[in-house]
Amino acid sequence: MRLSLPLFLLSFAPSLSTSSSPTIPHSPSADAASSIVAQMTTEEKYSLLNGIGWSSHMGQDDGYYIGNEPAVPRLNIPSLNMQDAAQGFRTTDIRQIGQVTAWPCSLAVAGTWDAELAETWGAALGDEHRGKGANVILGPSVNVHRVAVGGRNAEYISGEEPKLGEVMAASYVTGVQSRGVLAVAKHFALNNQETNRNTVDSHASERSMHEVYYKPFAAAIEAGVASFMCAYNLVNGTHACGNSDLLSRDLKGRLNFEGFVMSDWWAVHDAGYEDAGLDMDMPGTDSYFSADNLSAADDGRVDDMVTRVLAAMIRSGLMSADPSAPAPFPPLCEIPGGCDDLMFNATVRTPEHVALARQIAADSVALLKNENDVLPITPDKVKTIAVVGSACDPSNHKEEMLKVWNLGNFFVMGGSGRVIPDDPISVLRGIKERAAQDGIEVVESVGSTDSLAAAKRAMAKADLVVTCGATTATEGADRSSLSVDQDSFLQSVTAAAAEMGKPVAVLLTTPGSAVVSSFDAGAAALLNMFLGGEQLGSAYADVLFGDTPPSGKLPVTFPLAAADATAPCESNPCEYGEGLEVAWRGLGGKDVGYPFGHGLGYTQFGYAWGEEPAVAEGGGLRFSVSVSNAGERAGREVPQVYLAFPQGAGEPEMQLKAFAKTGALQAGEAQLLEFEVSAVELAVWDEEAAGWSAVEGEFEVRVGSSSRDIRLSAPVQV
Ligand SMILES: *[C@@H]1O[C@H](CO)[C@@H](O)[C@H](O)[C@H]1NC(C)=O
Ligand SMILES: *[C@@H]1O[C@H](CO)[C@@H](O)[C@H](O)[C@H]1NC(C)=O
Ligand SMILES: *[C@@H]1O[C@H](CO)[C@@H](O)[C@H](O)[C@H]1NC(C)=O
Repeated sequence: MRLSLPLFLLSFAPSLSTSSSPTIPHSPSADAASSIVAQMTTEEKYSLLNGIGWSSHMGQDDGYYIGNEPAVPRLNIPSLNMQDAAQGFRTTDIRQIGQVTAWPCSLAVAGTWDAELAETWGAALGDEHRGKGANVILGPSVNVHRVAVGGRNAEYISGEEPKLGEVMAASYVTGVQSRGVLAVAKHFALNNQETNRNTVDSHASERSMHEVYYKPFAAAIEAGVASFMCAYNLVNGTHACGNSDLLSRDLKGRLNFEGFVMSDWWAVHDAGYEDAGLDMDMPGTDSYFSADNLSAADDGRVDDMVTRVLAAMIRSGLMSADPSAPAPFPPLCEIPGGCDDLMFNATVRTPEHVALARQIAADSVALLKNENDVLPITPDKVKTIAVVGSACDPSNHKEEMLKVWNLGNFFVMGGSGRVIPDDPISVLRGIKERAAQDGIEVVESVGSTDSLAAAKRAMAKADLVVTCGATTATEGADRSSLSVDQDSFLQSVTAAAAEMGKPVAVLLTTPGSAVVSSFDAGAAALLNMFLGGEQLGSAYADVLFGDTPPSGKLPVTFPLAAADATAPCESNPCEYGEGLEVAWRGLGGKDVGYPFGHGLGYTQFGYAWGEEPAVAEGGGLRFSVSVSNAGERAGREVPQVYLAFPQGAGEPEMQLKAFAKTGALQAGEAQLLEFEVSAVELAVWDEEAAGWSAVEGEFEVRVGSSSRDIRLSAPVQV
């Protein structure tokens, strides 16, 4: 594609490399790995490339994880013990329930817009995995949401913007790998829907691949991620795990990934995928990478595959570069056979982790509206709260969930990302515990079927009504709608409350975008938390009572109607015809329910430039913004930096390029935040040159409290 602007090819930084053929890495860790490979027998090499341990029973045999590679004790190579991921250590056995933390989903972490918190979470995940004997976590899941009903959106830590995903993915990887656990960026690439997920053939332009869909993956690489997992879908007519343009040219070549690529479970469909760039077949029971099959592979390529695996293990501290030296971490249990005690007996859910799960959930809450400052709840305004609706006290049905791998509920998603909580805290329980401290009475109507008459009886006694709307999602299927399951009940409750003159706060639990138009007008306050895990109700209470002022921002759009959002493809090819106008970016001219980046506090914030945007050394932009608390209560704000490219650059009207989260600001307090937008952020992908091209001209920097609440803007000539 030709751009009508002066362009010059950027070639000064490794991340801007335009090399197109994969090179065998020559880092110190790769060299150390090569010397270990030189000591390995052919059988030992093959054994590291072909997964073991999977069975049909919930996917996991006793003594095995979700996937494993056996150890090579002779060379001090530990086994790889792999476990999912998206909400913590995956529970597949009843004994594990309660031994591990059921964290908020990854999308909730994205909703905090807090890079430091994401890294702290990553470290805690690393500790729990390691404590259970797993040294590989099958995350982060980083695909940018394209399809609002996407069944795995709750797992995807990028939300609708690559920049959010870049920051969150890098923080996660850094946190996890600091604990000697390998992280796996997935699902590469264009895994954007669950409908026909094994046969959908995604076609995106190279430019949108590099500018949107690859970006969080590239950030994971820069953070040192050990491994990639290729996706189920096809890209340009070829399955992702056998696609050499995707894995060799783009991932290992243009993105310079030096780690190893594992397949998703059964995402290999033919022999010879090693030629395309796949390094490890998981779960391996399909035997495409059996010793027999691999004996037909090129020996140099096999050595490259094993080198990549071992180098990643060395880099992440899982084993020593010197095979005669002991591992830097205490040895793990070894597959096969030795892990039962850790897997089924070790409790790694600590009070610190429970507190962190609660903090993440609370910090993820987006306050979408708060008319007449109905929140926070204070004893001078509220003597009695009515909690109405079954979704405020949903059941957890552990046994049923254990039987059906992809059953979700109103605390956790279904599928491989699921962590079944033992005794999750509902909204009702969270509110009751907190209200008691203030002597506030709680009346309830939360039976398993929603009854308006019963709800009205409770509401009649209250100064404030709290009601809940929830839905869940699962791997393997897209959501059938964007509504919450109680949509019509919420309509009736808000209408009845209006007649009774009672303010209503609606608390949502969602796995992604939601349409709230039918009850929004009747709600005085509206809050969203993505599937919040075991501490959901306590976290909601923290926010409602103002102990933790709301500071989350939507990482997705809440459209007015489902039809406004991109629907999954039903047939092939699946053309990504919107190009760079992905998700919220394509809704520019349209009214939405709540826009990308939206979330209020219990206070208001003022914005002022510190230093106005200017071109920095190295070609990027530099500026600072002072955010001040102009209201009466404490709060935290997330100033978001959007960039508008010069006319004619072919870019969306604006895109997120940076953000930061303030500390807790007391009334009257201000914080100066420094921003840098690097040169590559001002570049576009030039398909002909297969590299980044800088754009010159007048950019506009827009700093806002959401994508539709821009507070500062300044032109800058680049
Ligand atoms: C997919 O096809 C497009 C259009 O032909 C091409 O530009 C791009 O390089 C291909 N990408 C991959 C990963 O195959
Ligand atoms: C490799 O394995 C697959 C699945 O087991 C089998 O169908 C195929 O024929 C094998 N190919 C070679 C070259 O051995
Ligand atoms: C778990 O701990 C109990 C009690 O210490 C012990 O009897 C049992 O053998 C352990 N289970 C496994 C699988 O190691």
